[in-house]
Parts: sequence; structure tokens; C-alpha cells
Amino acid sequence: MDVLTINVSRFFRDSLSFEYIAERILPVIVHEKKKFVDPCLRIWSSGCSMGEEPYTIAILINEIFEKEDFNLNLNIFATDIDSKALKKAKEAVYSFESIKDVKYRLLTKYFKPKGESFRLIPTIKEAVSFAFYNMLEKKSYAPPESIYGDFDMVFCRNVLIYFNTEYQDLIFDKLYHALAKHGYLVLGEAEKPSIKFQTHFKKVNECCHVYQKM
Ligand SMILES: C[S@@+](CC[C@H](N)C(=O)[O-])C[C@H]1O[C@@H](n2cnc3c(N)ncnc32)[C@H](O)[C@@H]1O
Repeated sequence: MDVLTINVSRFFRDSLSFEYIAERILPVIVHEKKKFVDPCLRIWSSGCSMGEEPYTIAILINEIFEKEDFNLNLNIFATDIDSKALKKAKEAVYSFESIKDVKYRLLTKYFKPKGESFRLIPTIKEAVSFAFYNMLEKKSYAPPESIYGDFDMVFCRNVLIYFNTEYQDLIFDKLYHALAKHGYLVLGEAEKPSIKFQTHFKKVNECCHVYQKM
């Protein structure tokens, strides 16, 4: 349990992937959504640790909405099996170590100093819903709190590295079903789809670990 719940994370971890997502993926998804009445953007951060990853996504999306002067319903779900990490995530107060990769402009815009720590502003804090969910449970493809899957993007970064092929297959099956048609899957730097699922996902860029559901 201690190995599986290693919570190492930070804001904008693997900054190249986040830059790519901000420049190339999110604007495309938002543009597509504009075609619908009352559109909703659905994102799941699985293995979210203390919230650094889902809050980074919320910051990126807020930046895009401001730039495009456009808004849509935003659902960001974030799940983990570590209840203590989830409690910390909901508090949204971070040490310098967690925010050291955040650009100065974003740091001053989205965080307020609190002693030696940094408190995330309420707008971003309120954009993310946290829940306990085990990626190895076999009863559902997505957290019940998310009502249904159909996610435009699922982040599952630095979680798969801890599991053997059998468990990775179980997780990839879940991720595949939780994604909407042509939805995007974001993995960690050392991760790729297991052999059984390599034909289910297409890599969209050579530099980043972003895949699209086939
Ligand atoms: C190394 S952290 C990664 C955090 C974040 N995704 C990132 O890349 O920065 C791995 C997280 O996966 C969680 N985890 C491990 N096994 C899990 C499982 N079966 N279901 C859900 N979360 C799990 C751990 O509790 C931990 O918070």
C-alpha cells in the first residue's frame, strides 16, 4: 500500500505535455464543443495524488476560456485510493516544492502566499471534484460520482508504472471505456498502452505521451 500510494507530484509536472495540451489539444476540443447547445467539457484525473494534476488542468482551461472569451460547463473529476492525499487535495495549500514549475505570471494569478505555503484561489479550487476510486475495481468503468464516463480527456499519469501487465490491462480497459469517442488519454513520461491495448489508442505527438481513442 505504501508503494502504491507514493504521492510524488507537482503542478505542471512534465511541462512539455502540458504545453502541448494547452496549445494543441484543449483549443481543438473547445472549438468542437462550440458547435453544441449547452456544451460540457468532461475531464478525469485518475491517481490525482494531492490535486496538483487536476488543478493544473483547471488553470490551463481557465486560461483558454479567458483568451477565447468563451465559457462552457466544466466537469473535472479527480480520484485516488489515498484518502489522506484526497483530504490534502481539497485543502489546496502547497509547499514551494509543489509549485516550483509554475510560471511566475500563473503563480501570482492563481496562488496566494500563506506563511511559507501557497494557497490556490477559490475559482480553481471549486472547479475540481475529488472522490475515492480504485482503478483496479471491476464493477465500473468510471467513478460513480462522475455519473457516467464519456470523458473528453482522461489523465492517468505515473500510476500504471506500479502495476504488472494483468493489472495494466484492467486499467486500460477502464480508461478506454471511460473515454468519449476520439477522447484523449494522457499518460506519464515512462508509460504507454499495454500490448493488448496498443491498437485502441493512437499516439498524437512524438514528444508527448498523449493518445487518442481509436
Ligand atoms: C506518483 S502519484 C501520481 C500523481 C499524478 N498523477 C502525477 O503524475 O503527478 C500516483 C498516485 O496514484 C495513486 N494510486 C495508486 N494505485 C491506485 C489505484 N489502484 N487507484 C487509484 N489511485 C491509485 C496513488 O495513491 C498516488 O497518489
